[in-house]
Amino acid sequence: MLVLGIETSCDETSASVVADGKSVISSIIASQVEAHHPYGGVVPEIASRKHIEYIVSVVNEALIPFGIQKKQLAGIAVTQGPGLIGSLLVGLSFAKAFAYGLSIPWIGVNHLIGHIHSVFLEPECPQFPFVALLVSGGHTIIYHVTDYLTYDILGTTLDDACGEAFDKVSKMLGCGYPGGTIIGQLAEKGNPNAIQFPRTFIDKSNFDFSFSGIKTAVSRYIQTHPNSVHDELFDISASFQEAVVDVLTYKILHAARVTGCRSIAIVGGVAANTRLRQKVTESAIKENIHVFVPSIKYCGDNAAMIAALGYHYLINGESSCFDHDVYTKKKSKSL
Ligand code: KG4
Ligand code: ZN
Repeated sequence: MLVLGIETSCDETSASVVADGKSVISSIIASQVEAHHPYGGVVPEIASRKHIEYIVSVVNEALIPFGIQKKQLAGIAVTQGPGLIGSLLVGLSFAKAFAYGLSIPWIGVNHLIGHIHSVFLEPECPQFPFVALLVSGGHTIIYHVTDYLTYDILGTTLDDACGEAFDKVSKMLGCGYPGGTIIGQLAEKGNPNAIQFPRTFIDKSNFDFSFSGIKTAVSRYIQTHPNSVHDELFDISASFQEAVVDVLTYKILHAARVTGCRSIAIVGGVAANTRLRQKVTESAIKENIHVFVPSIKYCGDNAAMIAALGYHYLINGESSCFDHDVYTKKKSKSL
């Protein structure tokens, strides 16, 4: 069963065709990095305009070169929220019109749960139940996943998202956007133990996070150490990254232990971070827990994960109505 996925929640215009929620036939991602780079972050109005510019050609690219006829599509899955309202509207409106024109069902899905489904695109995927660490630009959440469509939130960030901390630290260091990738690269050349930035566990027995303290600690270090941005760029990056990775590793392993899960999934843009993948994997092996991460191309925003998630609703006979709208924040506590 072929599902067309469409993702436009932030600054990536993406379309993908996935068979049976698992096999990626095509995955096209048009990045807007160059358009936002001069502003040091994503400008929502520019993002929506770029989505409008790209959406038709991105969908065509996901179909035509792969020999997929529109009539072969069984349904469309599109990100309904959370995300930037103008950006979401482009994808949702396109999906509604396309589904109407083809007389096929469409389903609006949650972007965050879509990220979890990125691990199902890989040949080796976790068995249920498992715990998932979602680390993206806007969210940091630990889920207990018991089925393709059944999730409970165990913990979340009380302030900044983890990716947001990477982005802001990059800005403080004058390195700009896209921050996470830049900090990850700088960190590889630095000493992770050079500066002892604080690890905020809040309460070691729960699964909540806080990243605003570490961000402030980096800012204060820069202010109190003249020339540090120039002289210690690599060490600051590596030490900041290590502090964040320590907390994420501790919490997700603790979640696996408490729930008795033998598998951990790490998903979302920050899941591309080499040190995070390495540290969680090394720590989990010691406890005979398996770690599953998507390929780098499926860590960031992509429509393949949206199609994979949408497939499970569509085979259950669930679809959305034409009066369904986008939502910018988390829709309900369980999502
Ligand atoms: O999932 P995503 O592509 O978009 C959202 O749904 O937010 O995540 C984007 C976030 C950004 O904050 C970006 O800085 C971060 O993922 N990121 C990384 C890396 N690559 C992207 N953070 C740390 N290390 C990376 N290698
Ligand atoms: Zn995302």
